[in-house]
Amino acid sequence: MTSIASAPPYYENHGFHPENIYSTRQPVGANPYPPFSTNIPSVPSYVPRVATHQSSRPVAHSSGRTCTSTVKKIIIIILSILLVICCAIAAFFIWYFVENRCLGSLIECGSSGVCMPPSQWCDGVSHCPNGEDETRCVRLFGPDFILEVYSPISKSWYPVCQDDWNDNYGRIACKDMGYNADTYYYSRGVAAEGSFKSYMKLNTSAGDIDLYKKLYSSDSCASGKVVSLRCIDCGLSTRSVNIMSRIVGGSGAVLGQWPWQVSLHAQGIHVCGGSIITRQWIVTAAHCVEGRFSDPYSWRAFAGILNQNEMFLRDGYRVQQIISHPDYDTDSKDNDIALMKLETPLTFTDTIRPVCLPNPGMMFQPNQQCWISGWGAEYQGGKTSNNLNYVMVPLIERSRCNSIYIYNGMILPTMICAGYLGGGIDSCQGDSGGPLVTNKNSVWWLVGDTSWGTGCASPNRPGVYGNMTVFTDWIYKNMQANR
Ligand code: ARG
Repeated sequence: MTSIASAPPYYENHGFHPENIYSTRQPVGANPYPPFSTNIPSVPSYVPRVATHQSSRPVAHSSGRTCTSTVKKIIIIILSILLVICCAIAAFFIWYFVENRCLGSLIECGSSGVCMPPSQWCDGVSHCPNGEDETRCVRLFGPDFILEVYSPISKSWYPVCQDDWNDNYGRIACKDMGYNADTYYYSRGVAAEGSFKSYMKLNTSAGDIDLYKKLYSSDSCASGKVVSLRCIDCGLSTRSVNIMSRIVGGSGAVLGQWPWQVSLHAQGIHVCGGSIITRQWIVTAAHCVEGRFSDPYSWRAFAGILNQNEMFLRDGYRVQQIISHPDYDTDSKDNDIALMKLETPLTFTDTIRPVCLPNPGMMFQPNQQCWISGWGAEYQGGKTSNNLNYVMVPLIERSRCNSIYIYNGMILPTMICAGYLGGGIDSCQGDSGGPLVTNKNSVWWLVGDTSWGTGCASPNRPGVYGNMTVFTDWIYKNMQANR
């Protein structure tokens, strides 16, 4: 075994990069330019002489005149091409403005036409002309999905009192988190724990105004119940796991057991895993979509299928957009998370379903039982597995994982370790981007996305996963900005 102290920082897992999937060879005859010949004179040797007006000049000058008219023609052609391009650009902008109003991943401040980057929403500092970036901040807190609204005045989050609350308000709050109205699940009142001192309450006499303008903070809540909001029916698996029961050292999955798991193919080959979070959004790892893998059009997502050989016969879902975390770092694997938006929404069935994103305030215990799944190699250096495998891995405390004999300080707050220090069971190449999930309150939560590890299943080298809880907020903001 190599000494850890002297070993240079070494990553096995800078993405799973199959060879030869992109050929850079140019097809024969693809050169758009005709072969250059030195025999071709730069001025046409024969120019038809057509007198367009009376001229008393000697014939010798006429070739100069035809030359100017050719130049004129060229200028006219260029100008008309430019005009067409300008019109197309203008049409695009008009369309974009009518459709989205804000370019790219920007969120509009109300309907003011002012646009803000997602990072400036709900950051405690007001940027929008009317402060919209701080006045419609909602989140779901803890394992019971308690709806909380941010008060820019007291700079804190308040649970919403169930009194006078209804599904229409629930839909508005879900929309402000980036969910579509068609997946809305329910709003229900749950007994407020003693820990809540203040609430947000609805001012029912306020009339037909914006939900957030109707909310005011209050120390009392008559029903004693707070709103529990589910924007999507997530985290349900119709097949329970066989806890006794490859990944490395795992078992073959059955259909519907990990219904959020997708296989992501680039140029027709399985490259990474991913997790369904809505009908259109997939969570994966940033290192999966780096460099030449950053083009959405080279990807296809396969959902509800266990075997790779079945996928080769199907079309898969096209990817419309890829959003990689802006602070992702290739070397340290800091912020190893990305979002993929599908061109057409998935239809949810027993075998295709979303997993729940972890809410802030969710505590995962050290040693908490989690499950990983994927088509990754079944041993280090092996090839992609044909069938989906899964295995249970316990979480490992960050301080422990960062100890000198494990990863010696390489585990950043955006990462979480899971696996066995004895080795033998782990995720491996090809599992990246895929889910690390846990079951709590009868719901499956996405705890992490498979990111890296030194080798696979080696002693004292557990798997490292993106720490999803720290990304939930980034995910919601980006779903909202790109709805
Ligand atoms: N980076 C790998 C991939 O692209 C995943 C590696 C996980 N490694 C581990 N030892 N757990 O598929």
